[in-house]
Amino acid sequence: MKTFAIHPTIQEYDSFKEFAAEVNLGKSDLILANDTIYKTFVEPLGLSCFLISPKKYGVGEPTDAMIDAVRRELPEGIERIIAIGGGTVIDIAKVLMLDSQGSTEDIFMGRCEAHKARSLIAVPTTCGTGTEVTNVSVTALVRLNTKKGLALDDMFPDFAVLIPELIQNLPYRFFATSSVDAMVHSVESFLSPKASAYSQMYSVQAIDLITRCYRKVVFEGQETWVRHSADFLRASNYGGIAFGNAGCAAVHALSYPLSGKYHIAHGEANLLMFEGVIRKYLELQPEGGIQDLEVVLARAFETESTAGIWDQFFALLNQIFERRPLSSYGVQTDELEMFVDGVVEGQQRLLSNNYCELSKEDMIAIYRSCLDR
Ligand SMILES: NC(=O)c1ccc[n+]([C@@H]2O[C@H](COP(=O)([O-])OP(=O)(O)OC[C@H]3O[C@@H](n4cnc5c(N)ncnc54)[C@H](O)[C@@H]3O)[C@@H](O)[C@H]2O)c1
Ligand SMILES: [Fe+2]
Repeated sequence: MKTFAIHPTIQEYDSFKEFAAEVNLGKSDLILANDTIYKTFVEPLGLSCFLISPKKYGVGEPTDAMIDAVRRELPEGIERIIAIGGGTVIDIAKVLMLDSQGSTEDIFMGRCEAHKARSLIAVPTTCGTGTEVTNVSVTALVRLNTKKGLALDDMFPDFAVLIPELIQNLPYRFFATSSVDAMVHSVESFLSPKASAYSQMYSVQAIDLITRCYRKVVFEGQETWVRHSADFLRASNYGGIAFGNAGCAAVHALSYPLSGKYHIAHGEANLLMFEGVIRKYLELQPEGGIQDLEVVLARAFETESTAGIWDQFFALLNQIFERRPLSSYGVQTDELEMFVDGVVEGQQRLLSNNYCELSKEDMIAIYRSCLDR
């Protein structure tokens, strides 16, 4: 059986001001946003809601310690959370939606009950995670030295709100890494055994849109990505809908130890593993869904032939954000086996969506292929 659903109501606004007026923000609302976004878009409106800036509790992507600290600060009587930010802010907000006696580690490890107690309006300010439409939250678990994703239906946002003006000040680096993440979501969900005709429609649309826009950015110059911000934001949302239904797979699973141990940003860590995983799929199962994907890519590159399409595709990604070898981050050959053991033990949720089965040896070979090139 295949199922497909879009849970949050999706809304698009031209400006944050228009959104704020429509949702009527007030005293029982909590805004979770980083300082830059807050100062630029929220403060000028003089709203009376509570504010929490996750940056006060730690830098970088979420950790369970950071989320626990934010949970302790949650004021009484909050009914609605408005998370305005990238995956970091929105994923923290998803945990704040819940009431639970357990710590964040307990919740993520499934050791305690957790139930929805507040509603969530998710407003992305990067163009990658698609988390505004999924029931997934991802955090680093400090004690366990890895990243873990948790999927709970109680964490579906109620509204996903797309406002292109919010992403226009995003530094190029975060545009690049987050949009690569959206591309990986779309490709992994397209190839997933859980993909349906419906989820693939969203995967294809996202892949097509991102590839075409990347080609324009490469042609017109990096700074011109902003001209396409509405397309990137929508493509990220499509990718979220696709992987929210069909799942992500090995690229994400293999990237997690890199982010967990070397604190490599999520989209960048995905980029490091992306080509290695696809090349291994091509070696193990060149016929099937991956050929359909080649046709999708050829169309986006406006070429008749699929010959050499992966070379073109990965060259394009490399022009958007240069992929460095794993060794340049300090990754050592002798830790690859340990990474794979951790992935096999902790990331079955993702590995079960692989295009074809990958043995431990295959996964070690993928890491190796990314080590020094
Ligand atoms: N829950 C899911 O379904 C899901 C899916 C993919 C990724 N993730 C998670 O999301 C996190 C990554 O999120 P991300 O890629 O959106 O990056 P991010 O939220 O970590 O933001 C990256 C940086 O950009 C800054 N920033 C964000 N928006 C900005 C803006 N508009 N202007 C200026 N600066 C801005 C942030 O402050 C931060 O410094 C990771 O933890 C990843 O694991 C979750
Ligand atoms: Fe991702």
